[in-house]
Order: sequence, then C-alpha cells, then structure tokens
Amino acid sequence: MSAGTPSDAGTRAFVQPDLLPGMDPGPVPPPLRYPGGKARVARLLLQYAPPHREYREVFAGGAALFFQKRKAETSWINDRHPGLYAFYVAVRDDFGEFADLCRKQTGDLRSLFEYWANRRDLMEAEGDSSILERAVQFYFINRTVWGGRVVYDPQRKSRLYFSNPQGWHNLERRLERLALASAKLQGVKITCLSFEQCLRECTADTFIYCDPPYIRDTLCHPTDKLYDRSFDEEHHRALASLLKDTPAKVMISYDDCPEARELYSDGPWRFVQLEWRYCGRYALTKKDKANGVKERKVPGKELLILNY
Ligand SMILES: C[S@@+](CC[C@H](N)C(=O)[O-])C[C@H]1O[C@@H](n2cnc3c(N)ncnc32)[C@H](O)[C@@H]1O
Repeated sequence: MSAGTPSDAGTRAFVQPDLLPGMDPGPVPPPLRYPGGKARVARLLLQYAPPHREYREVFAGGAALFFQKRKAETSWINDRHPGLYAFYVAVRDDFGEFADLCRKQTGDLRSLFEYWANRRDLMEAEGDSSILERAVQFYFINRTVWGGRVVYDPQRKSRLYFSNPQGWHNLERRLERLALASAKLQGVKITCLSFEQCLRECTADTFIYCDPPYIRDTLCHPTDKLYDRSFDEEHHRALASLLKDTPAKVMISYDDCPEARELYSDGPWRFVQLEWRYCGRYALTKKDKANGVKERKVPGKELLILNY
C-alpha cells in the first residue's frame, strides 16, 4: 500500500489566519492527543505564569501551555521525540503540503496504520530529513493509536496498536484547527534536543515551563512507560540541579510525591498543590482492570514547583 508521497501532493488553498511571524492568534486548541498532556489544566497553570519576554517549553509534548498562552516576544518549544519535532516543523513551515498528504490517508485505516507503524526508516530519521512524511506518520499514529502514545522504541512495538479509527474521522475539521496551530507556530523556535541544551543562556525575562515525564512513569515497568523517551532517576536529578541556579523564572509540573518534593527541597523553590478531576489510566487499580472496570474521573493532584 502506498500512503501517498509529499511530492505528488496537489495544493489546496487553506484558510489560515493572515498573521506575521510572532503575531498571536490567541489561545488555540492543542492539535494532538497527548498522554499526560496539560490541555485540561493549561488555564489553571497559566494563572501562575510570571511576566516574561521569552518563553521556553522544554518538554513540549502536546504543548498545551504554549497553545493556550499569550505568545511572548520569542517562544521556543522542544521535545526529544523526533516524530513530534517533525510534526511541529511541518505544521509551521509546510502546512498546505502536510494537509494534502493527510488527505491522502483514506480507505482502509487499519492497513494505513500498519504501513506507518512499519516505516522504521522514518522513525529512525533525525534532523530535517523527510520532514513531511515523518510528520504525517506521527500525526496519523497519534490520532489512531491507543491512548495517543506514539512509541517508536522497537522494544515496545506491542504498545503501538490501532484502537481509535474515529480519531481520523472529520479530517477537514481537524485540519481547520491545525491551521490555527500553524498560525500560532509562526516565528517559534522548534527543536528536538535533550533538555539540558534548552536551559542555557537564560535571563530574568525568560520563563521556562518544564513538564518532564512523571516520577511514577520512571518507576513503571518499561512496557508501561508513557513516552518514547523516558526519564530515569539520573535525569530527574540532573534537571533539578540545572534549574537550581538559573536566572530564569521556572515553573515545573510533577506528580505530587515525596521524591519530587525531595528533589526540590533545597534552593529557591516553593510548592503549590493543584487539584482537578481527570480521567486516566492511573485512576484504576489492577483489581479494577481485572474486573473490567472502565476508566472514570477521579481527583487529580499535581505539584507545581516555582522559583518566583
Ligand atoms: C509529560 S510530557 C509533556 C506533556 C506536555 N506538557 C503537554 O501538555 O502535552 C513529557 C515529554 O517529555 C519528553 N522528553 C522525554 N525525555 C526528554 C528529554 N531528555 N529531553 C526533552 N524532552 C524529553 C517526552 O517525549 C514527552 O513528550
């Protein structure tokens, strides 16, 4: 099966807000399904955002905060997932072609899923090669896979299964929303670096938002981990140590657990405990799952760690 190629994509005009780089279309709906994403709590988190001229979202994922917040003079979103990087770059720079290639993904969705899930060449690509195809691969899998988890790690291939065909329905409506995301991404720096490289050369006008993989994700069995790039204890410690002395204003989201509080016990930090109702896999015990209980809304608790 061919899933279409970027080069044979015709161009269909797309209604895209006519904005100059850096101009802000306002809050836009986050374009991805993202495990651990902050879409539902972004407005709550933004109440804690300090005034700033430069914004950095170091573990962007679905970048819920970036898409919800007012754009700063300069913005930088980063994530170590190469497919996610390709998606944001294509939506920013080649939205028309990206949309046309998405439109070619019609017919037997399960076979298309198999096609994209087996394009290891694209999963292993880094940098700016094959950006459009990698972007569509990432987006198609994100919309149709179980839980929105786009795991490229070959050891966890079993986690990549087609379970959400409706995620690819109403594509034109989704593309309209993506056009807003494209407008928001104009003038934004997008990178695929490890976090250490995004914490340099900050000033007191820099606002850094860090939403690293949760501590409980680190403690999970490898096959249960949410992200393609996960964190071990060393990563958590390195992040805390790099953030301790930065001149930037820093906001960190963590699961509220003793390990997270211990990591930030020393230094300029203050803790804010947030609560809301959410629906997620952590809402169920093993016994619930064995008894076939469906996920339900439970109170969510999260720790915000601030140095201002
Ligand atoms: C909790 S998610 C971020 C969710 C995001 N705030 C949202 O609203 O969707 C954590 C992200 O960190 C990324 N990540 C993991 N290790 C990383 C690393 N060393 N450097 C940068 N990003 C990393 C993962 O790919 C994942 O997308």
